[in-house]
Amino acid sequence: MLCFGGDYNPEQWPEEVWAEDVALMRQAGVSMVTVGVFAWSHLEPSPGEYEFTWLDRILDRLHEGGIRVALATPTASPPPWFTLAHPEALPVTADGVRLTHGSRDTYCVSAPAYRTAAAAIAGKLADRYAHHPALALWHVHNEYGTDCRCDLTAAAFRTWLEKKHGDLDALNESWTTAFWSQRYSDWAQILPPRATQYLPNPAHVLDFRRFLSDELLAAYQEQRDLLRAANPAIPVTTNFVQGGWVSVDHAKWAAEMDLVAVDDYPSEPGLGAEEQTAFGGDLARGWGGGSWLLMETGPNLIYTPGRMHAKEAGRLTRHSLSYVARGSRGAMYFQWRQPRGGAELFHSALVPHAGPDSPVFREAVGLGRTLKAIAAQVADAPPPVAQVAVAWDAPSWWALQGAGLPSAEIDYLAAVRQAHRALHRSGTAVDFVFPGLPMDLGAYRVVVLPHLYLVSDETAAAFREFVANGGHLVVGHLSGIAEPDGRVRLGGYPGAFREVLGVRVVEWRPLAGDAEIALDSGDRAVRWSERVETAGSETVVRYAGDVLAGAPAITRNRYGSGSAWYVSPGLSDDGLRRLLDRVLGEAGVAPAHAGLPTGVEAVRRGPLLFLFNHGVVPGVVPLSGPAVNAVTRRELSESVTVPAGGSMVVRLGSADSPHPVR
Ligand code: GAL
Ligand code: ZN
Repeated sequence: MLCFGGDYNPEQWPEEVWAEDVALMRQAGVSMVTVGVFAWSHLEPSPGEYEFTWLDRILDRLHEGGIRVALATPTASPPPWFTLAHPEALPVTADGVRLTHGSRDTYCVSAPAYRTAAAAIAGKLADRYAHHPALALWHVHNEYGTDCRCDLTAAAFRTWLEKKHGDLDALNESWTTAFWSQRYSDWAQILPPRATQYLPNPAHVLDFRRFLSDELLAAYQEQRDLLRAANPAIPVTTNFVQGGWVSVDHAKWAAEMDLVAVDDYPSEPGLGAEEQTAFGGDLARGWGGGSWLLMETGPNLIYTPGRMHAKEAGRLTRHSLSYVARGSRGAMYFQWRQPRGGAELFHSALVPHAGPDSPVFREAVGLGRTLKAIAAQVADAPPPVAQVAVAWDAPSWWALQGAGLPSAEIDYLAAVRQAHRALHRSGTAVDFVFPGLPMDLGAYRVVVLPHLYLVSDETAAAFREFVANGGHLVVGHLSGIAEPDGRVRLGGYPGAFREVLGVRVVEWRPLAGDAEIALDSGDRAVRWSERVETAGSETVVRYAGDVLAGAPAITRNRYGSGSAWYVSPGLSDDGLRRLLDRVLGEAGVAPAHAGLPTGVEAVRRGPLLFLFNHGVVPGVVPLSGPAVNAVTRRELSESVTVPAGGSMVVRLGSADSPHPVR
């Protein structure tokens, strides 16, 4: 079965609507809904007084309708009575403002009262529903990520620091507190980063984000353990949220999930949304080790900073199948029914204010049919196999969000996305690897490191070995600069990678705004340039202007049986793509499918070939052998035409070995 459905909030609707909900879910082929996210004040209207009968009724009704339930614990939104009784459990900002209820996520994860209350309500749900026949998955909380800088957090932070650093001397050394007289002589002097007079200490900020990730994880684990104890057969997860403000190291958290669940909300209205979908799906697959679940995306809207854009016909399907092609066990959305009020009253839904007689619901019905037709085939197909990987490292992102860096335009996420986009546009399957964890690089021909700023000795050694064994490593600027605690590696950049790259960078020359420097390849340096000295590597591209004219810009170093490229300038999308195409060529990496017309994307998942036409004209995709349309089972020969805006799932291989229908 593929999961298809979304967040469902029956508590927002009179019961008459519930019957229609289940009927419409059946019409659309919905197989799973997430119930109870944020329902705390309806489950526990006053302290210790519980109301579960409404939840009993809706779970029974869903079960009768053949719809499975991801049951959420409601702990992301404590009720007003809780915050009034425990004001110390409200979050405090870095400016010292204590927030109050009135929105959601108004809790401090380090407050004992919050942790106790969260465990209590989760325990009640476990007692009552762990064996409910509709229950398929526990969905703990919602999008962990809330930040707090209060005194309770300070105490928890100090405990974490003592465990990490052992003694104060080690902490003082690691944080370079000799700078600006910040030396701590007692643990009690250490606070979370709070509003201060000028630049904060970057190592302090970095450790705080690591602490918060661990602290939030501990809160997750508490709930997970009691849900698991109630019925070990039911998997437990939480939905990962992505964003620069989030102090969660998802790669590290993934090991604690029975199934990695990810919320992904592309934020660009145009083709960028398709590229963001590919990026989000590939990253989630990395976290999930191949398999994961798209827990939320907006079915019919794309939220950009200033506007909600309606998706054109076919896009809901393309986006959803793109996640499935990339390893998701289905497609779930926020949300089932658009609410009449509340903070997100105009947010995306499968059943919008207009009702089921609407483009989004009609498309959902078609998508439900498609997912049903391919479910068994997808279940048997392995996740996509990639020969190319991009590194993702949350702590490097956090470090590069700091103040006091050489350019205010350094953007970790943009750099990683650009690398993924360039490979994606070449039709190449892309994985992600996580340098903070043990990595298995053996399957890759090419690995790209954009802005991998913090690097341990072990990580550096792993990449050296990858190259020595024949791999092709592409290192972007701002990589290898510092040790994991943020202290700079001396002797020239890019510290940890100097040896494998055979270069030494002696000067950074970030470029202002729209400034550019010509390169002798015909491309140009944007955003960033450097003075690079080669030390054994060959210069492939030189700067052709500015004071750097004639100096190395892009280098290649033969190392063992592989090669390591250093890319000192910032490049345009096209420039990076040209460079990576060359590396892919040298490494012998082929695109996921040969002969694709412009605008058509292909993702291979075992014998399944997912085709997405993001263009405005039909795309003819050549097929090199026997194949069938995986949905209609019709045989295909030589080529298949994907309509403009359309999606197609093709099963490669001979038609006389039909796949069993489950
Ligand atoms: C998600 C969140 C949902 C909803 C959605 C936006 O990140 O989990 O509760 O807020 O965004 O519509
Ligand atoms: Zn707090």
